[in-house]
Amino acid sequence: MAGINDTTSFYNGHGSPSLFWELTICQSLAEQGSPYQAALRRPQPYGGLLAGFLVQELGLRANWSVVEVGGGTGALMAALLAEVPLTDLTMVDISPLFTARQRAALAGRGSFRFVTADAVQHFSASGRVVDLVISNENIGDFPTVTGIQRGELEAAVRPGGDAASPLGQVAEIVRRYRLPLGDAPERFHFNLGAVRYLEALAPVARRVFLSEHSCDPVLPEPYRFLPLPAGDGYPREIPLKGHSEYTVHFGHLARVAAALGYRVRRGHLAGLVGLRTDPGLQAMARTRTTFSETTELVHEFCGHVAEYQWMTLENTDPPGPNRRER
Ligand SMILES: C[S@@+](CC[C@H](N)C(=O)[O-])C[C@H]1O[C@@H](n2cnc3c(N)ncnc32)[C@H](O)[C@@H]1O
Repeated sequence: MAGINDTTSFYNGHGSPSLFWELTICQSLAEQGSPYQAALRRPQPYGGLLAGFLVQELGLRANWSVVEVGGGTGALMAALLAEVPLTDLTMVDISPLFTARQRAALAGRGSFRFVTADAVQHFSASGRVVDLVISNENIGDFPTVTGIQRGELEAAVRPGGDAASPLGQVAEIVRRYRLPLGDAPERFHFNLGAVRYLEALAPVARRVFLSEHSCDPVLPEPYRFLPLPAGDGYPREIPLKGHSEYTVHFGHLARVAAALGYRVRRGHLAGLVGLRTDPGLQAMARTRTTFSETTELVHEFCGHVAEYQWMTLENTDPPGPNRRER
């Protein structure tokens, strides 16, 4: 029987969320001089690296309207603002605790908007077209339908099936976007919340940057040495303190985004952060040693970054909030 993984109550105040237990790529690289930065060609906080990437890849400019979703401690945005001094910035986060931390981290940098809300609800209701949405390492937290049996999906779309149930919604999405499930295992998980998020963004976001743990990562040539966890190509549970996340099927998301009118590009996060590829780094990636704290942390970082992908979406002329119906 299919179930649903929902992290809402963990993040919105009842679960005392902390990034300490799940050290995100952004948090690992947040402090200038962090030992994890020894893995990079040009050590820099993640927000600074992302700023350079967004300028090059999407043409980010200081006068753009930008929304960061799920900004955690605010570290990404604080470092990004040091490179690109945005003036029209909104931070949207489901967690009041993280909203408060973002306010503190960005205090004195401008009069920004801070919204405590679920991202899908926010964009469905906002009615404002924005130049860029940044969504770093949070779509794996959005609702995932778990333990789907392939036969169950067909039953969900037959007359008398419950179209509004999580399973009914997945069946409808698979049909609408022609998602190929021929390679799916007998039981699989589906990133329902991530798809609903793209649908909410499409009418109002000109550009989107996403990054997350991926279940179908493509490792480009210089990074083939990275150790990928075993998997079946479909979302995998990542159990964490007080909640679970799921890896994201970027192939499915790319198809949905293209059907929604976006030009889609995707790549590996190792390239975005400028992971070193020299023999010393490759040795540290392969073997866990307790030779020094740095070698151990670099090993951990390589294992962590291995399954991360980024995706950029561009549609500089989105239909607008009043034409959301398809
Ligand atoms: C794993 S943390 C990532 C934090 C930060 N972006 C980083 O990379 O370190 C997930 C963040 O997304 C937020 N979040 C989770 N679900 C959300 C939702 N449905 N809507 C908005 N924010 C959400 C959490 O409160 C938290 O700030």
